[in-house]
Amino acid sequence: MCMVIFAPIFAIFAFATCGGYSGQLRVSVACNDKMDSNLSIGINFAYPFRLHQVSVEVPVCEGRRQERLYLVGDFSSSAQFFVTIAVFSFLYSLMATVVYIFYQNKYRENNRGPLVDFIVTVVFSFLWLVSSSAWAKGLADVKVATDPDEVVLLMSACKTQGNKCGSIYGPIWSGLNTSVVFGYLNFVLWAGNIWFVFKETGWHKGGTQQYPDRISEKQSAGFNQPPYNQPPYNQPPYNQAPYNQGSSFNQSGGYITQGDFGQQSDYSQVGGPTSFSNQM
Ligand SMILES: *[C@@H]1O[C@H](CO)[C@@H](O)[C@H](O)[C@H]1NC(C)=O
Repeated sequence: MCMVIFAPIFAIFAFATCGGYSGQLRVSVACNDKMDSNLSIGINFAYPFRLHQVSVEVPVCEGRRQERLYLVGDFSSSAQFFVTIAVFSFLYSLMATVVYIFYQNKYRENNRGPLVDFIVTVVFSFLWLVSSSAWAKGLADVKVATDPDEVVLLMSACKTQGNKCGSIYGPIWSGLNTSVVFGYLNFVLWAGNIWFVFKETGWHKGGTQQYPDRISEKQSAGFNQPPYNQPPYNQPPYNQAPYNQGSSFNQSGGYITQGDFGQQSDYSQVGGPTSFSNQM
């Protein structure tokens, strides 16, 4: 059930914390001639972090003149990439949930559902890793570019002796830090799901591996052999019923009966959890 529940929620957290962000920093400019000072200059910025478009009027400390100060940098590409992946990941996992629940049979038909699911899952894992890393780097750069101590260095007034510039407060980063954490959590979730979707494709049980299992099952059932050649899972009730031949142990503690022995239809309806429902 884990993927069904967590994939859309984790995706929402990722794009909401990043895409919904807005922050503020505040600096002060105390001019030598106090009349010109502005001791509380607020600078607001938000997603998508095109900081070079963020500006504010600041005193120059020469008469009443002001200058327009621009922040430095454009971090929209990594931020928007991250949010885009999160949105598509959300949409796909919602759609997959609906398909798993309402269109089980169609999903398994021709093995095409599991195949597409497998490829999409691999692609999303990769994209989550790339976009989270890109956004983690982007966020680190945003933090530098909006550090009040860095921002005051951009003002001409602060380069003149006698004027005092200072930071009042910097932006709060917890939301954006959370978005990076959720980005990597999504990667772990999707990458972990690769195995379960892979099992659904049926590729992992190539003919060679399956038959020794079946033989050892029969042997252990018939002759009660000593444990040295029995894998730990090869215990009752695993070998109690004939239809367990060709089935594999599933992490949630149930059994999946697999399709390549022509017995699929009945048992997979009963005991075949989907890749989305059988994890964690
Ligand atoms: C100081 O700067 C802010 C912009 O953050 C502006 O709204 C305010 O009017 C300025 N104050 C003075 C005294 O110029």
